[in-house]
Amino acid sequence: MAGAVAAAAAAAAAAAAAAVATPSALPVPRRISPSRPATHLLLPVSSALGATSALQIRVGLGRNAAPSSSRFCERRRGGVVFSSASSSSSSSGSPLPAALLFDCDGVLVDTEKDGHRISFNDTFAEKELGVAWDEELYGELLKIGGGKERMTAYFNKTGWPESAPKTEEERKDFIASLHKRKTVLFMALIEKKLLPLRPGVARLIDEALGKAVKVAVCSTSNEKAVSAIVSFLLGPDRAEKISIFAGDIVPRKKPDPAIYLLAADTLGVETSSCIVVEDSAIGLTAAKSAGMKCIVTKSSYTSEENFANADAVFDCIGDPPEVRFDLDFCGKLLLKEQFVS
Ligand SMILES: *[C@@H]1O[C@H](CO)[C@@H](O)[C@H](O)[C@H]1NC(C)=O
Ligand SMILES: *[C@@H]1O[C@H](CO)[C@@H](O)[C@H](O)[C@H]1NC(C)=O
Repeated sequence: MAGAVAAAAAAAAAAAAAAVATPSALPVPRRISPSRPATHLLLPVSSALGATSALQIRVGLGRNAAPSSSRFCERRRGGVVFSSASSSSSSSGSPLPAALLFDCDGVLVDTEKDGHRISFNDTFAEKELGVAWDEELYGELLKIGGGKERMTAYFNKTGWPESAPKTEEERKDFIASLHKRKTVLFMALIEKKLLPLRPGVARLIDEALGKAVKVAVCSTSNEKAVSAIVSFLLGPDRAEKISIFAGDIVPRKKPDPAIYLLAADTLGVETSSCIVVEDSAIGLTAAKSAGMKCIVTKSSYTSEENFANADAVFDCIGDPPEVRFDLDFCGKLLLKEQFVS
């Protein structure tokens, strides 16, 4: 284990040296917290052909799936930062993406941790069930798909609340009513703007819109929630310029590429000129299957998933002074050689 880490560190050092020796147009990542190495380090290297490629190196693993902080990005868990100088060199002839396509849940907002979990808790509190799900427990419960199933499995395991009905049929109705209330409270969190946007989301979207790069949100989860997140959290001015592809608009959910193919087709852009931002392995598969470049910004409950075929992996998009990547970086990623898949 220590050997592997040392080898990875040596490789990182060598690649960093190479990047310094042959300065490419790519921004050079700067480590800001050596005590907390990034799980992925994206190092630009110049290939013999002059095209840029990226090298991903895994270092410093060993964090568990459960998040220990609600300030995932601000706590500098990843240590890679692009110096803000990188943005000022953006007019150096790098291409612009035709479109930036964002997943919604986990990318625009950390929906599970900051949204769904909170609204389950609020529902339990309202009904005085004496139950609250903390971040770590919720990470475990997420292995059970579906909100109703999640509550049922939890109560089956830990015991049903005093006030819950006793027969299985009545319990089904009880769970359905809890879930209905939970959905209302979740929408209220969005409408009251109590669900925060992740760092850098608004900044990157503004950068794209400012350069006439098309922006869309592509999600196969509930259309109503996605639209509310875009209009309430990004605000009406941005929302009117953003296309939304969500819900049952395509017959097959991610990891099927259908939603991304539909977005490219509707926007009239080449799939190879699109940059996707995803937070999960499922979303990454959808984007890569659509022939798009994909940047992963890990979210609370996806940080340990396998992102080996991502074009870049960060802990967030980031706002100054801790910007992880900008529109310029997205453009340069288009030049990167295609991964063999
Ligand atoms: C559950 O969410 C509520 C409502 O926001 C919060 O006040 C509470 O601290 C949370 N409980 C746990 C155990 O995280
Ligand atoms: C909960 O327990 C009931 C009764 O034993 C069972 O029928 C049901 O399948 C269980 N549901 C889950 C999600 O564990």
